[in-house]
Amino acid sequence: MSTLITNIAELMTQDAEHRVLRAAAVVIEGERIAWLGAAEDAPAADEAVDAGGRALLPGWVDSHTHLIFAGDRTAEFEARMAGESYSAGGIAVTTGATRSTSDFDLTRLAMGRVAEAVAQGTTYLETKTGYGLDVENEARSARIASTVADEVTFLGAHLVPAGMDAGEYTELVCGPMLSAVRPFVRWADVFCERGAFTEDQSRRVLRACKDAGLGLRVHGNQLGEGPGVRLAVEFGAASVDHVNYLSSADIDALAASWSGWDAGTGRHGTVATCLPACDLSTRQPLAPGRELLDAGVQLALASNCNPGTSYTSSMAFCVTTAVLQMRLSVHEAVRAATYGGALALGREAGNDADGERAVGSIAVGHRADLHLLKAPSATHLAYRPGIPLTHAVWRAGVRAR
Ligand code: NIG
Repeated sequence: MSTLITNIAELMTQDAEHRVLRAAAVVIEGERIAWLGAAEDAPAADEAVDAGGRALLPGWVDSHTHLIFAGDRTAEFEARMAGESYSAGGIAVTTGATRSTSDFDLTRLAMGRVAEAVAQGTTYLETKTGYGLDVENEARSARIASTVADEVTFLGAHLVPAGMDAGEYTELVCGPMLSAVRPFVRWADVFCERGAFTEDQSRRVLRACKDAGLGLRVHGNQLGEGPGVRLAVEFGAASVDHVNYLSSADIDALAASWSGWDAGTGRHGTVATCLPACDLSTRQPLAPGRELLDAGVQLALASNCNPGTSYTSSMAFCVTTAVLQMRLSVHEAVRAATYGGALALGREAGNDADGERAVGSIAVGHRADLHLLKAPSATHLAYRPGIPLTHAVWRAGVRAR
């Protein structure tokens, strides 16, 4: 089955050449993109969709979410808006609610959140464990996550549960918990921050998870300067996420991780993932996305959808904020929310590990993950803040909205 999408006013490919085509068309064949170019040259297909002079982008790649949870933290949010500061301790509230929720309900809740994201243009999505915090509940979260998300990350090292010794808990994470989640996850993460895991504990977790064959990510430098970025680069993590408080040495280390990078080899540096919705919801300073890009760091934007610090799955909101507040251009922000997310997940074009699953850019052979805006150009994402601009979504070639 093939589908021709034609009469596209602006086709933002986010491909290797950063091409933006006008008066364009795309052909989908099964799950993949089979052709793109000038609308007047388009081949015939089984069906045709008139884009009506709208803009077409790659679907959003949301590389950082925490969707496996139950419960509500409205009261904590209200307290924060009244002047309280965020601390990692709120994670325990969600852990309690999550543990007492059935598999069926946890799955239903997570599926609802994924559906909400897809309806807003997200076509590839990572999610994490981290609200189980014991062997049984982390394994259960990982199993459920693997049924609802494209990529799953083990975040047993999210918070030391109340009443447990931090050292003993770290050993539990690195031993029985890691073994129990291993069949369901591709990535591991650690919340390296005051109030969560120290540098030594984080190092222990990263080493064990790397030895177990997992790719690495780090929650780092969210609440203050610290060792997160340094550790992420040292361990060759695919991404370090939050990055609000960076020293010049941190920025230099991230930039150095990309020196000599050759797009298409699959081997690359550490992506800095900015989470602007989280920054606003926690009243932290926005991550220095402009400075990172100017230094040569590859950037991703992600929603960080979770009940504590960022209860939104809106990637468009993140893009809008990145343009209006972080001083990214529209093209840079869209790139970070599509290709950047793919890079952070090792799913970019040319990644030798899994070339078949290239997402985050529109090119022949890539997964047909497409987002048709209710607007003639991507600029409208920033020009019309807060307006829902998703007109249609294709996920792996299937019309999802
Ligand atoms: O990415 N920072 C750590 N983890 C989440 C927040 C989790 C929570 O407070 O429930 C985050 O912001």
